[in-house]
Amino acid sequence: MNRIFSGIQPSGNLHLGNYLGAIRNWVSLQESFESIYCLVDLHALTMPQDPDELRGNVREVTAGLIAAGIDPERCIIFCQSAVPAHSELAWLLGCLTPLGWLNRMTQFKDKAGDQRDSAGLGLYAYPVLMAADILLYKATHVPVGEDQKQHLELARGIAGAFNRHYGIDFFPLPEPQIFGAATRVMSLRDGRAKMSKSDRSDYSRINLTDDAETIALKIRKARTDPDPLPGTPEGLEGRPEAANLIGIYAALAETTQKAVCAKFEGAMFSSFKSELADLAVSVLGPLGAEMKRLVSEPAYIEGVLQRGSERAAEIARHNLSQVHTVMGLMRE
Ligand code: TYM
Repeated sequence: MNRIFSGIQPSGNLHLGNYLGAIRNWVSLQESFESIYCLVDLHALTMPQDPDELRGNVREVTAGLIAAGIDPERCIIFCQSAVPAHSELAWLLGCLTPLGWLNRMTQFKDKAGDQRDSAGLGLYAYPVLMAADILLYKATHVPVGEDQKQHLELARGIAGAFNRHYGIDFFPLPEPQIFGAATRVMSLRDGRAKMSKSDRSDYSRINLTDDAETIALKIRKARTDPDPLPGTPEGLEGRPEAANLIGIYAALAETTQKAVCAKFEGAMFSSFKSELADLAVSVLGPLGAEMKRLVSEPAYIEGVLQRGSERAAEIARHNLSQVHTVMGLMRE
C-alpha cells in the first residue's frame, strides 16, 4: 500500500518556498495517496521558540495547509507532539544510527556553524526524529523540497539498517518526491541562499499572508542583474537571481522554465517583475485571505488537529507495538 507522509515546522511564516516546494505538491498527491501531514513542533524546538507563539504557529500553519487545498476529511493533519510515539521511535532508531551518518548532515553544520559544542543534542539528532516521523507510519513516499533530500537519504539508511539488523522486511524504504518547477526557491535578496523562515530580512521571502501590495513591493525590490532576460533556460547559467524569478513564475503559472524564457525573451526585469507580481498576487491572494479567515476560527482548526491526532495515533500505536516485538521490548 502506498502512503505519503510529510512534515512542516510550525516556526514562523509559511513562505513561497514551502508552498511551491512542498505544500502544492501535497495538495495534488492527496488525490492518489493516503496522505498524512504533520506539524512538527518537536523539530521546531531545536531552535529557540516562544511557547505561546509556537502554539499559535501550529494553528496558523494548519490553516495554511487547509487554505492551500489540503482536505482534512481526506488526509490526516496533526501535530507531532500529540503523538508521543514519534519521540519513542526516534530513541529506538537512534540506537541503530551510526554517528558517522549524522556527522555528514549539512543542515546541522549550517545551523550550528562554529558553535558546534554549544548546539543542542536535539539539533544533532533532528534527522533521526524525522526518520521516525516517516517510518512510524511505514510511509512509502515523502514529498519535500530539495533541501530535505539528504535527510531522506538518512531515513532510507536507517530503515535499511533496522531491516538488516533484525533480518526482517519491516520498514519500506521511503521514496523522496521532489518535483515541480521550483523545488528550491531562493531568497529574493540573494539568489544563492535558500528562501527561509529564518532569514532576518522579510524582503528575502514572500509570506503566504502578505497582502497584494507587499507581494508586489517585494518582487519589485528583488535583486536582479542588469541584462535582459534570455530566450532559453541555458541563458540563466550564472544568473541565480534571474533563474530564481523565472523558476517562481514557471511554478506559479504551472508551466516550464523553457516556456517562460520563450515568452519573456529580451524583456527587461522591470516589465517581467510587474507580470510576475500580478501572477503571484492572483495565486497567493485568495490563499492568504482564506488562511486569515481560518485562523479566526480556532475551534475548527483545533477540531481538525484533534481528529488528525486520533487517526495518526491509531496507526502509530499499531506499528510501534510491532517494533517493540521485533526489538525485544516488554509490551505489558
Ligand atoms: P521545513 O519546515 O523547513 O519546510 C517544509 C517543506 O517546505 C520545503 N521548503 C522549500 N522548498 C523549496 N524551496 C524552499 N526555499 C523551501 N523551504 C522549505 C521543505 O523542503 C519541506 O518539504 N525537516 C523538515 C520537516 C520534517 C519532515 C519530516 C519532512 C520533519 N519530519 C518528515 C518530511 C518528512 C523541515 O524542516 O521542513
